[in-house]
Amino acid sequence: QHCILIGAPVDSGKRRAGCLMGPDAYRTAGITEALQGLGHTVEDLGNMAPDAYSEDTNDGLIYARNETIGWTSRLAKAAEEALERGTPIFLGGDHSLSLGSVTGAANHAAKAGRPLFVLWLDAHTDFHTPQTTGSGNLHGTPVGYFTGRNGFEGFPEVSNPVPQENVCMIGLRSVDTQERLALEDSSIRTHDMRHIDENGIAGPLNRFLEQVSQANGMLHVSLDVDFLDPSVAPAVGTTVPGGATVREAHLVCEILHDSALMTSLDLVELNPFLDERGRTAHLMVDLCASALGRRVFDRPTRSYQ
Ligand code: ARG
Ligand code: MN
Ligand code: MN
Ligand code: MN
Repeated sequence: QHCILIGAPVDSGKRRAGCLMGPDAYRTAGITEALQGLGHTVEDLGNMAPDAYSEDTNDGLIYARNETIGWTSRLAKAAEEALERGTPIFLGGDHSLSLGSVTGAANHAAKAGRPLFVLWLDAHTDFHTPQTTGSGNLHGTPVGYFTGRNGFEGFPEVSNPVPQENVCMIGLRSVDTQERLALEDSSIRTHDMRHIDENGIAGPLNRFLEQVSQANGMLHVSLDVDFLDPSVAPAVGTTVPGGATVREAHLVCEILHDSALMTSLDLVELNPFLDERGRTAHLMVDLCASALGRRVFDRPTRSYQ
């Protein structure tokens, strides 16, 4: 497989700074070497910059709207171009980068005549619009955007909205009222942590992958650090207790590899400023390696000293 690393140091999706260091933390944690070690070729495009945007005044509720718009158009193009040649892996950056990565993937899928599916691994549903958000943080809006919800005036037009039926969320445990009401009205598949506790994580995932496969779909996976429990992944601004364990997360990634369905991937919300000796960056790199074929028996011994 040809892996294309796209550094997306997006930090405009919320007020707490630090995700801009994410791409370099992944490189420092050895993402290139890990993927090469699995036999893949790796092309690192370096860190992107947003398209030109007018300076944000930040005098209203929405934070850094114009900068996020600049990132959205830049990363949509990057996704679309990279999908022509290989498997793009977006090294975030906060989750607002998925406004661009997913719409770009959707544009590519439309050209290829295939449906796009999205697997959302996150504590949050990120289903707000700029009209419904209470925080004004646009990292809480990517799913609202790429499924074509109204309220994104001034953002690049979403030419190929991802159908709600094609979106599956796993790991949920922090959903705002406005999001819940809109989700109840939608056909997005949601699996909260209680559902995972009672039924395990493999069942819902396998059912979703079966649907992707039946439709000959492309599959974009968006992995938010806060999908994981904060005890194993502390380097994120929006920690929520009760997240996925290390093994639950690896199992998801191992099943994804076996399915051979994943066509693009986001690694988002890593804030290296909040990490402990790189452990979260290392875990995210290990999960990425699992999604690209590393097996349990092949895991290198990692010392966190
Ligand atoms: N729902 C909250 C908000 O809109 C939290 C969003 C967290 N999103 C994330 N990508 N970490 O502010
Ligand atoms: Mn998120
Ligand atoms: Mn989240
Ligand atoms: Mn393989």
